Amino acid sequence: MKERSRWSSQTGFLLAAIGSAIGLGNIWRFSYMAYQNGGGAFLIPYFIALLTAGIPLMILEFGLGHRMLGSSALSYRRVDRRLEWFGWWMPLLVMYGIMLYYTVIIGWCLNYTLFSANLAWGKDPASFFLKDFLGVTGSAWDLQDIVVPIFVSTGVVWLITWFICYKEVNRGIERACKIFMPALFVLTLVLVFWGCSLEGAGKGLEFYLKPDWSKLKEVSVWTSAYGQIFFTLSIGFGIMIAYASYLPRKSNLVQNALITSVVNCLYSFIAGFAVFSVLGHRALVENVPMAEAAGEKGGAILAFVTYPQAISELPAFNHLFGLLFFLCLTIAGISSAISIIEALTCAIRDKFQVSRGKVVSILCGTGFLGSIVFMCHSGLIWLDIVDRFINHYGLVLAGFLECVFIGWILKARNLRKHVNSVSGWKLSRMWDYLIKFVSPAILGALYVMDVVDIIKHGYEGYETSWLILVGMNALILSFILAAVFTIYPWRRKPELIIHKPEEDKVLV
Ligand code: PFF
Repeated sequence: MKERSRWSSQTGFLLAAIGSAIGLGNIWRFSYMAYQNGGGAFLIPYFIALLTAGIPLMILEFGLGHRMLGSSALSYRRVDRRLEWFGWWMPLLVMYGIMLYYTVIIGWCLNYTLFSANLAWGKDPASFFLKDFLGVTGSAWDLQDIVVPIFVSTGVVWLITWFICYKEVNRGIERACKIFMPALFVLTLVLVFWGCSLEGAGKGLEFYLKPDWSKLKEVSVWTSAYGQIFFTLSIGFGIMIAYASYLPRKSNLVQNALITSVVNCLYSFIAGFAVFSVLGHRALVENVPMAEAAGEKGGAILAFVTYPQAISELPAFNHLFGLLFFLCLTIAGISSAISIIEALTCAIRDKFQVSRGKVVSILCGTGFLGSIVFMCHSGLIWLDIVDRFINHYGLVLAGFLECVFIGWILKARNLRKHVNSVSGWKLSRMWDYLIKFVSPAILGALYVMDVVDIIKHGYEGYETSWLILVGMNALILSFILAAVFTIYPWRRKPELIIHKPEEDKVLV
């Protein structure tokens, strides 16, 4: 097999990590979560979640990949051979759980980028989105046919992903993110300034950020903050472990983890200005209260219904504004999608010693086929359920287990020593306590509360027993898949897979 991939510059690595973190979730999830959970006051639980779980776990993943010089599967195998399954489970869960619908949503964004040319959603974007575009059916089992425009656009997304991941990371992902990320930042800033200059923008921003301190007493506000931090930082996916394994020996891991986490969260906060300024303008034009103009749902409804409506009502250049917005979503989505393909490619190549081209082609091919269910008429219902289960029950569980395995089996102290031996900024013992006690305790409690909540209240009116059946099946399937990969024998003994780090190289 050829030499292992390497980043060619520090900036390249950082932009790729930030690219993975900044995704669809930053644009359509954060701002809504903030306003529903106390506006400006939400920043407090969000910030605490970032400090107590986000950044410590980001350092953990960077440190582990860098210390073990391997993908998540090889790294956990090196921690303890009984943990190899976990190193497979994380990227497999994200690849066959999240990625399949995530690429379909990027496909919709691509469709909507084109629709912006003539504001195709017309006067009733809700009916356009749900009836004309998706043709949503009433029941999950009523799949009917594949929606052709979505099939085509999702195919294009998979093709772009394949094209970028086919090449070694320094020529594929690194180059793509060096173009994508600055472009995304510029486009977002244009949207923010443009949005804030609109009449009524101030009202929208006040709505977004006005603190409601009483909300801090609600448990669900805290669970939302922790859940969002995990998803947004791509933690528990195995991605950051793989990315860090391509670094040379002298790499400032602590600083990189801090920059990645802070830039990602700052981006979410700023993107919220682009969203709420425009909604404030809509409230003014329609002469309705802000709560009505903002609608009650974030996620897909915000991006494909509420926001298009507001775009139509802009005083000038609506087409261009729509184009920029959907282009931002598309870019943010693709830079996240490529990262999970890389995480799994890295793991498969470590174990089976096969060529990158073969692995990437198989992953993108099977991924595209798997996406088909979400391209059908009842795709939105499946998307909603899978999203809820993987985010709430898969990722939080992954984070919890990560803390336990590294904190107690590898021992947090040992990993901290490694991180400190290569980083300019040093970790104190405080980090060990966070990984061993604080983060797992919070994540464990969150998990239990979430499970109780779904049993008690169900989810969005779906029948609870049916929901649990679907969710459990998905989780069980991911465990079976991880077991298959674990049981398959290593092509070369893992102890013999030695990727020497580039000792002298210091990336700038
Ligand atoms: N961090 C991404 C976001 O906030 O949208 C989530 C993500 C999803 C990353 C899927 C990677 C991925 F493959």
